[in-house]
Amino acid sequence: MPSNNDEYKQAYLRERAARIQAEQLIEDKSRVLYALNEELVKKVADFEHQQQLFIQAEKMATLGTLSAGIAHEINNPLAYAMSNLECLQSTRLTVDKLLLLNERFTSGKLSAAQLKDTLLQLQKAQSFTAMSNEIQELVEDSREGLRRINTIVRNLLNFARPKDNEKQLANMTDAVKNAIKLLSNQLSNCEVNCHYQALPMAWCNLAAINQVMVNLLINAKHACDELSDTQAKITVTVAFTEQQICITVSDNGCGMSEHVKAHIFDPFFTTKPVGTGTGMGMTLVYAMVHDHQGTIEIDSQQGRGTQIHCFFPILRHE
Ligand SMILES: Nc1ncnc2c1ncn2[C@@H]1O[C@H](COP(=O)(O)OP(=O)(O)OP(=O)(O)O)[C@@H](O)[C@H]1O
Ligand SMILES: [Mg+2]
Repeated sequence: MPSNNDEYKQAYLRERAARIQAEQLIEDKSRVLYALNEELVKKVADFEHQQQLFIQAEKMATLGTLSAGIAHEINNPLAYAMSNLECLQSTRLTVDKLLLLNERFTSGKLSAAQLKDTLLQLQKAQSFTAMSNEIQELVEDSREGLRRINTIVRNLLNFARPKDNEKQLANMTDAVKNAIKLLSNQLSNCEVNCHYQALPMAWCNLAAINQVMVNLLINAKHACDELSDTQAKITVTVAFTEQQICITVSDNGCGMSEHVKAHIFDPFFTTKPVGTGTGMGMTLVYAMVHDHQGTIEIDSQQGRGTQIHCFFPILRHE
């Protein structure tokens, strides 16, 4: 018969073996969990990297879409600034003659009577008053054209500058206005109405908000393509309610079916003809709004139009 001691020993050994086995199991599981976690961290990092690459690629694609319109916008003022300079060049001939007369008269090579005579002849060929007015007009027009080019370039830099990829305390309305200015040419065949409510400063990436707006506005414009110039209406509203900034882009265009609404944020989802849309615009809008901890709501009715609301909480700092 086994003694009590032996039974205790057996029980102790069994309990110890079970404990070692359990510990081993926990250790194995922990090792597996640790490896899985490592893999997950790596996958998340990979995913974030891919997302950055994608955002950059999409930004370049948006720039591509914009550049045709921008080239056109720059081309007009540039063309008239250049033609004004050519006109100025031709009036320079008369100015040169006047300078020469002045030089000859002051150095005594020309009498007062001769000077008067020559001046009258020149006046006959070209009225000095008209010439002076023309020069003023040409210079003013050219300055206006160059100012316009300067604004376009500044808007474009605001859109593309890498430093703007950082968040800062800013007024989101600036980005909204910038996008509308940037697209003024493309949106010229729609009636665009804007309503801006005063916004508090918020921690945001102005370049990203700008890009969100560019994508929403281009989509709204495309949705109105079938409408006539007098019918197409796009409304942009910037409001501050219940501690949230709400930016809404509405259009009275074609609207969306339930299927389009369900897939609008899917990468590469587009209803546009091959080679027209990349289907990445709204995916990017989603990523950027979420990067600001915001949300998007879509109201759309086929044949009636669409309202896209982006809600942003007020972030005070990173
Ligand atoms: N305001 C709108 N009205 C109607 N349909 C819209 C609107 N905005 C987006 N859509 C639909 O959602 C689809 C996806 O939009 P998204 O901006 O992602 O891609 P896209 O405009 O087709 O191409 P791109 O990448 O050039 O922007 C569009 O093809 C269109 O069918
Ligand atoms: Mg789009």
